[in-house]
Amino acid sequence: VTARHPMRHVFDAPSVIKTKRDGDALSGPAIDWVVDAYTNGDVADEQMSALLMAIFLRGMDRDEIAHWTAAMVASGDRFDLSELRRAGNPLVTVDKHSTGGVGDKITLALVPIVMACGATVPQAAGRGLGHTGGTLDKLESISGFTAELPKLRIHQQLSEIGGAMFAAGQLAPADRKIYALRDVTGTVESLPLIASSVMSKKIAEGTAALVLDVKVGSGAFMKGLAEARELAHTMVDLGAANGLATRALLTDMNRPLGATVGNSVEVAESLDVLAGGGPADVVELTLRLAAEMLEVAGLDGRDPADTLRDGSAMDAFRELVTAQGGDLSAPLPLGAHSETVVAGRGGTIGDIDAMAVGLAAWRLGAGRARQGERVQHGAGVRIHRRPGDPVAAGDVVFTLYTDTADRIPAAMATLESGWSIGEPPGRTALVIDRIVA
Ligand code: URA
Repeated sequence: VTARHPMRHVFDAPSVIKTKRDGDALSGPAIDWVVDAYTNGDVADEQMSALLMAIFLRGMDRDEIAHWTAAMVASGDRFDLSELRRAGNPLVTVDKHSTGGVGDKITLALVPIVMACGATVPQAAGRGLGHTGGTLDKLESISGFTAELPKLRIHQQLSEIGGAMFAAGQLAPADRKIYALRDVTGTVESLPLIASSVMSKKIAEGTAALVLDVKVGSGAFMKGLAEARELAHTMVDLGAANGLATRALLTDMNRPLGATVGNSVEVAESLDVLAGGGPADVVELTLRLAAEMLEVAGLDGRDPADTLRDGSAMDAFRELVTAQGGDLSAPLPLGAHSETVVAGRGGTIGDIDAMAVGLAAWRLGAGRARQGERVQHGAGVRIHRRPGDPVAAGDVVFTLYTDTADRIPAAMATLESGWSIGEPPGRTALVIDRIVA
């Protein structure tokens, strides 16, 4: 027995897997052991894959989720951002996290808006997961941008400019490994695994306040309102138990957000939002989340919409990108091959299904099918006509972009079933509910 692995002889991976496979709760020590042993390479990927599938199928109770989250936090460093909290305003560090959506580029404009309103935003962001995009994959389509910042640099950047968007890295390294494994093993859509993944990063990063965007609908990991609500409550409670002022919005993810889904195409759309334009749904949700962030941080003096009008949010974005090596004057990449989908007849665009568009973008190369695969920064889908828009026969409805032409047929086939010309859909509220501790 070594000091590093004091429990090495007490547990073994097959027994832990079988416990969960058979529907029993995992004990705290078993969770501590398996998360630590996997992070250190003593439990193999195939063993953790089997355990994740058992958790996916059997679930976890609240105690197990809290313990699994704590074990993931303990797998790495924990930042102390207390000195960044300004005198008289103890909640001034505030972050946001989405549970994953299609066309969900909200973080890109939201972080600089909230920075421009005076908050400090430590944004531990993620990569694409399943058919949903990742903030880091999107940001890395900006020439030179790096998200792999060491702890000292994150602290320095937060003190100097009030914001950083970074790979979790040394924060919750267990999540980094488990997240990448879930992405390629069909174990993403699991309440305990999502709650622990999101909250371990946020607890470890040391933010004082947190706003969660819990997605619900076809393009979300939680398809039904009841399970999304349960996920939101679980995360808000985990936040409260760990000293984070946390609240959540439940938001609609039956349709893609905005008019682009992919990596660089979403960055371009976010720049439109920061310039005062952009699609109405993206602007609406961004400003709602900004207002929540400012309120939970105790900074409700400034109207976030002003930062779009006066250019201060764009300035904050440029400052952040430059601080992280990015060059916004360089052209954003766009897939070398493109294909359009046109309307066969005139009418009105019916619904557009978020899952179909997300999967099409993933098939074009915007996401990963294997661990560690490089994403194509120029891959994605542009939506030219949105639900309720009129179309004439021959109008372009979607453009698909990829660097790999042979990916196009599968993406076209995926998209085909995801839209129609017909009855204009009823308007769904973008923000469905708000959950506070
Ligand atoms: N975001 C995360 O960080 N983890 C998840 O599991 C889903 C969304």
